[in-house]
Formats: sequence, structure tokens, C-alpha cells
Amino acid sequence: MTMKDKLDEYGGFLDVGILSHGFAPHMRDYDIVFEALCGKEQWADAKGTYRLRFSHCPETTTTTTVEDAGWRKAWPDTFIDYSKWLAEGEPEGFVWGACCSTAYQGLRYIDDSPRAKRWSERLGSPMHEVSVATEAFEIRIVFHDFTVTKLDDTVRVLDKVMFPLKPPADEEGGKQAAAAVRLRWRLSGTALGAPTDTLMQNPRVQLRPLTVADIPTVLALWRSCEGVGMSESDAPVHLATFLARNPGMSWTAVAEGGVVGAVLSGHDGRRGFLYHLAVHPTARRMGIGRQLVDEALRGLKSVGILKCQIVVFQVNDDARRFWSRLGWTLREDLYAYSKAL
Ligand SMILES: CC(C)(COP(=O)(O)OP(=O)(O)OC[C@H]1O[C@@H](n2cnc3c(N)ncnc32)[C@H](O)[C@@H]1OP(=O)(O)O)[C@@H](O)C(=O)NCCC(=O)NCCS
Repeated sequence: MTMKDKLDEYGGFLDVGILSHGFAPHMRDYDIVFEALCGKEQWADAKGTYRLRFSHCPETTTTTTVEDAGWRKAWPDTFIDYSKWLAEGEPEGFVWGACCSTAYQGLRYIDDSPRAKRWSERLGSPMHEVSVATEAFEIRIVFHDFTVTKLDDTVRVLDKVMFPLKPPADEEGGKQAAAAVRLRWRLSGTALGAPTDTLMQNPRVQLRPLTVADIPTVLALWRSCEGVGMSESDAPVHLATFLARNPGMSWTAVAEGGVVGAVLSGHDGRRGFLYHLAVHPTARRMGIGRQLVDEALRGLKSVGILKCQIVVFQVNDDARRFWSRLGWTLREDLYAYSKAL
């Protein structure tokens, strides 16, 4: 089977959205994490979150597919922050902050690629080139082989970003509209941090990714919460480094424009770690802490992390009860050691 045929086998996925892409932690392979809502033929039960990993990638390029006029219109930072965009009355324009990019036109094998030929000669192994195009960018990847791994049976964005078209009156038109629903996506989408079920009970609270701009606010929250251990490692510069190394993994809970909860989440390629989970005293016992943890764990799982750890002060009885309630296991067989460098 040729590489093109092998890739074609995955052509049955429908309604695909790309959540993230970039080099794997070891920097040799290139990962695309995507969600699919359904598929045809053997992919009929395709719903889930997947990782498409291209191996041995010596060259990749990413170019925007958003037109210049679209860039100009969506220039303000309002368009990179979904909740801010909502708060400002959903101004017209491309919303980067939807945290998902519809894979249309999707995956395409580049026949007779000069780049793949050049790299085959340089590396002495067969190389290929694909294009992965979405409504926001096109990635060109030179690679040797690829694998597809299902990370989760659930989707967390796509079923929220699709929106129903108003069905036309006649039956044939209705069928067409139903088909169109599969293909049309709301440009604005819904951020990964859109309210989940529990938070929907309190629609004034939303989760959104923790960004560098939030650092002063979350520092103030953490410092005001007993139970959160702060140190010199929490200087803004270190926190910004942590966020850059773990993009989109840490979360804030926002209510009426203010941050009421936050968690730092990241991994070292093998193990996940959560730090500084805190909810403002006035917003506790509303499910916010649980939602922050759930969202952080979903992010870790989506990049293949199998286990996550936290450190809790022994005297923090409330936190111990909280983590037990969420099903975390206390490791009584371990001591935590640390050393200043
Ligand atoms: C720990 C903390 C983040 C929990 O946040 P929260 O938003 O109040 O927690 P939730 O409302 O999501 O609670 C989730 C579950 O834990 C339970 N829970 C939360 N706090 C609890 C407590 N003090 N005692 C017993 N159960 C508790 C809730 O009843 C809930 O159970 P349920 O879903 O079955 O009803 C919050 O108390 C906090 O910020 N504490 C100070 C900072 C801190 O100690 N952080 C932890 C560092 S390890």
C-alpha cells in the first residue's frame, strides 16, 4: 500500500476540527490533535478525540488561510478571547479564540513533492509531504510515516461549535439544510472553556484558558487563598514560561468579568501536574473547583498523558476532602522531597 492509499483510509472522517498542532515533546515527530463527530463506512463510530502523529519530520511550514481583509477586521485582541468577544456583543469578524479550527479542506497528499524528494535523498529513507488545511491555516509537513491514535471517545468542542441552520419549509429543503449543518461551522465557535453542565446551572460563570495577561489577577487570588503554597517560582516570568511550555492547559473561572478560580496545569511529556487550584471563598462549593480540574485533566489526556499528580499541605483538610471527593488517591507510600537549585 502506498503512503497516499494509507492516508486515504482516513478520508472517511467527517466533521473534523483541529484543537492543537505542533512538534511532539521529543521534537522529531509532529502531532495534530483533532476531534471528529462522525464518519462514513468504517468510520461510522468515529466520534472522539484523536492524535495524528507524523513521524520523522525535518520540515514543516504553517501559513494562514485567513484572507488579509479577515486579518484586518479581526486584529483587536477581542477576537482572541472568546468570553471578551461575547462580552463586547459578538462583533463581526474571525474569532481566533474559538480554540478549534475546522479541518476543511483537510488532509491532502502532495503528489511528486519536490520537498519530500529532496529530504528522501538527504536522509536516505522514503519521505512524503502532506497538506493539512483548515479555515485558519495550512500546515505542510514532510514526514516518513504516520499513526492515528484515539485518545478519547468524547469530543469537547465540536458538538458545541456546530449550529443548526433554520430548516426550510419544504421537505427536500429540510434534508439539504440538515446536510448543510454538517458542513457549516460557526466561525466564532465556542471556546474550550465554554460553560459545562454544572456551570450552566450558574451561567454567570465561565471557564477560559489562563493567559499571560491573567497572571497579576491569579497571583492576587492565590496569595489571598490559604492552602496555596507560593514561592519565588511564582514570579510572573516563571509563570509565563510555564504557560508557554504548556499552552492552553491552565484555566481560569470567570464570573461577571472577574476571575473567581484558577488552576495551573502542565506536563513533562510523561506525567501531568496540577498546581495552585483555588476558588475565591465567595464562589466555593458551586462546582467550580471540580470543573477547573476536569478541564485541566481533559487537556492532559488529549496529549496522551496517563497520570497526574498534585501536592497538598498535610494541614489542608478542606483540600484533602475535595481531592478525595473527586476520586484522587492519597499516596501514603510516598514522601515528597525537594531541593533548592
Ligand atoms: C479546594 C477548592 C479549590 C475547592 O473548590 P470548590 O469550587 O469549592 O469545589 P467544588 O465546589 O468543585 O467541590 C467539588 C466536590 O468537592 C466537595 N468539597 C469541596 N470542598 C470541600 C470541603 N471543604 N469539604 C468537603 N467536601 C468538599 C464538594 O462538596 C463537591 O462534592 P460534590 O460534587 O459531590 O457535591 C477550594 O476550597 C479552595 O480554593 N481552597 C483554598 C485553596 C486550596 O486549598 N487549594 C487546594 C490546593 S491543593
